[in-house]
Amino acid sequence: MTILTPTSKPVSSASLPDVPQGAAPAGLPDVATLSRLATAFFTALPGSATPALASLGSGGGESLSAGLPVAAPVLASASNPAPPGSPFAGPGGTGTGVPGLSLPQGKAAGTNLLPSSPTHVLSLGNRVPALAPHAVSQNNLPDSVTTAAPALEPRFGGAALGVGAPDATQRDQSAVSPFYFLRDAGASSGASRELPLPLPGHDVPTAESLGLPALDDLRSFNGRERSVSTGSESDRNGSFYFLDHARAPHSNEHVPKTGSAHPPFDVNAIRRDFPILQERVNGRQLVWFDNAATTQKPQSVIDRLSYFYEHENSNIHRAAHALAGRATDAYEGARDTVRRFIGAASAEEIIFVRGTTEGINLIAKTWGVQNVGEGDEIIVSHLEHHANIVPWQQLAAQKGATLRVIPVDDSGQVRLDEYQKLLNSRTKIVSVTQVSNALGTVVPVQEIVAMAHRAGARAVVDGAQSVSHMRVNVQEIDADFFVFSGHKLFGPTGIGVVYGKRDLLEDMPPWQGGGNMIADVTFEKTVFQAPPNRFEAGTGNIADAVGLGAAIDYVTRVGIENIGRYEHDLLEYATSVLQPVPGVRLIGTAKDKASVLSFVLKGYETEEVGQALNEEGIAVRSGHHCAQPILRRFGVEATVRPSLAFYNTCDEVDRLVSVVRRLSSRR
Ligand code: ALA
Repeated sequence: MTILTPTSKPVSSASLPDVPQGAAPAGLPDVATLSRLATAFFTALPGSATPALASLGSGGGESLSAGLPVAAPVLASASNPAPPGSPFAGPGGTGTGVPGLSLPQGKAAGTNLLPSSPTHVLSLGNRVPALAPHAVSQNNLPDSVTTAAPALEPRFGGAALGVGAPDATQRDQSAVSPFYFLRDAGASSGASRELPLPLPGHDVPTAESLGLPALDDLRSFNGRERSVSTGSESDRNGSFYFLDHARAPHSNEHVPKTGSAHPPFDVNAIRRDFPILQERVNGRQLVWFDNAATTQKPQSVIDRLSYFYEHENSNIHRAAHALAGRATDAYEGARDTVRRFIGAASAEEIIFVRGTTEGINLIAKTWGVQNVGEGDEIIVSHLEHHANIVPWQQLAAQKGATLRVIPVDDSGQVRLDEYQKLLNSRTKIVSVTQVSNALGTVVPVQEIVAMAHRAGARAVVDGAQSVSHMRVNVQEIDADFFVFSGHKLFGPTGIGVVYGKRDLLEDMPPWQGGGNMIADVTFEKTVFQAPPNRFEAGTGNIADAVGLGAAIDYVTRVGIENIGRYEHDLLEYATSVLQPVPGVRLIGTAKDKASVLSFVLKGYETEEVGQALNEEGIAVRSGHHCAQPILRRFGVEATVRPSLAFYNTCDEVDRLVSVVRRLSSRR
C-alpha cells in the first residue's frame, strides 16, 4: 500500500509536554502504543478500518488488523491528496477516501495524544465528523467524564457510537463513562473488577464489529481506565430507557425485554447523535414517529455532506484534477460501502438511483421491457407500495402482460399457498416488498424468491422499509434485484440503490442515454459502458451517495442486529399499550412485523388523530401511505401510522398513547 507524503500542518512542538519523544508520562501507557491504536481507530471509517490497520502492520509494527473485516481496495492515487484537516486524510492525507496513516513529519508517534496538548485534541476531534459530542443530552446522560487520557474521550464516546454496555443486567447505574466498554468499570463499588468485555461471537457486538481496536488492545485500555469517575448523582439517576421504566410503578409491562443474552442498547447515546430530536414542536420536544416516510439524520451524515461540499465537490470520472479524484473516490467508496452492507458480490452490481421508486422503474423499463412479452405474467403482493405496483402495471399494459397479486391473510401476511398457485411458466418476474410500509409485515422474501426461481421467474425485492431494521444479504435472499432508498436509512433524500446480479445487468439495455454511461459515441452508433455506469447517465447525486455511505457507516457502528432487537422490543411494547385503548383497531397484526403500528380510532378521521398528535409534538403519518390496495383489503382508506426507529423510546410511545387515550375517552 502506498503511503503518501503528509499534508497535515505540523503542530508546534511548544504545545507538547516536556517528555522525551515516544515516551509516556507517568500514568499513561506507552505513547507509541497509544498512537498506533488511536491512529488506527480514528483514521478508519467503520467497515473500512482494515486498510489503515493493515498498513500499520506492514509499516513495521505488529499488525493490528487480525480479526478485522477484509479491506476494501484503496481507490485513489497520489495525485489526489485530501486537504489538511480532512477527516478522511488522517495526519498523512492520502485523499483516497480511505484514511491516511502517517503522522505529521517531525512528530513523535503518539505525542499528539498526550492529554496536555489541547490543540491536538481539537484537531483530532475535527478529523472525524460527528465524533465530538453534538447535542446536549436531555436526560442527564453525561457528555464527558474524567479519564486518564481525556484527549481520547470524545472519540470513544457513546455520543459517537451510541452503543450500550455489554449487558443490562450487569450494568451499574453509577457508571458514567461514555465508553460503552468501560461503563461496567465504573461500578459504584469502585472495585476494579474484571470487565465483562464482549467476546467475539454471534450477535454480540465486539470491538472489531464497532470498528474499535482489537480486543486485546481494548483490554489494556480497560485496565488503565478502571479508575474513571463514577459520576454525579444526577448521572446516576436515570439515563437509560430501561432504567427509567424500571422505576415506574408499571415497570414490568413497560420494560422492553432486552434479553439477558444480548447487550442493552443505549438509546440516549443514540439520540444525541440526531440533532433534530432536540427540536421543539408546539412547545413540546419532537417525537419522530414518521420513520417509514423518512428517517432523521445523524450528525455524522450532516457533517459528511458539508465536508464533501467544502473539500471534495467536483464532478466524477472525468477531469484529471485533484478534486475530481476526491469526489470520485468518495462516490466509489460509498458504492463499496453499500455493497458490503447488503452483501453483494461486487460493487459493479450497485447502481445509484434517486430512490426505490426510480429503482423499480429502472428494472421494469430495462429488464422488464426486454424480457416480458404478450401473455406473460408479473406477480406482486397485495402489500405493495404504489411504487411496486404502478411500474409493473405500466409494463403489463405496454406489453400485453398480466399483473397477478398474492393475497394476504387477515393478519396481513402473504399467503404462500396462494402464491404457489399463481406461479407458472408464464411468470416472468415476481416483485415483493420485504417489509410492508403500511402494515409493517415482514415478508418471507427468501422463500418467495426461491419459489419464483423454481418457476423459472426472476425476483425483485423492495427493501425500502427493511434495510434500516434488519440485516439484509442479497446473496442469501438470492434476489435478482434489490432496491432501497437512502433517506429511509438515515441518509439523504434523492439517493437510492438498485442491486442487480451481474449477469443480468450485463445483458440489460440502458434506460437513459447521455454522458457517463457511454464508452464511445459516433453519429452512427454508441457503445455503452459496462454496469453500473451504463445505468447512471448524466451527473448523479454524488454528494448524497457519499452521505448514504456515511449513514451506512453509522448504522454499522451501532450494529444492525442491535437496532433490530431494540426496535422489536419497542414495537412489542407499543403494541401492548396501544391495542387495549378503547376504539383502537390495529391494521396489520402479522406475527413478524417491523417498525409500523397502523391503526384507526373509532369516531375519528385519521387526520384528526394526526393533528391531535402533532399538537403534542408527535409526528405520525395519517393517510393511505401510498398503499391503497392493502388498506382497502382491510376495509379502510387511511390509517394513523406511527413508525418506529432505533432512536425512539418507551417514553415517546407513552406520550403517543396518552393522546390516543384522551381522544378515545371523548367519543
Ligand atoms: N413510502 C413512504 C411512506 O410509506 C413515503 O410513507
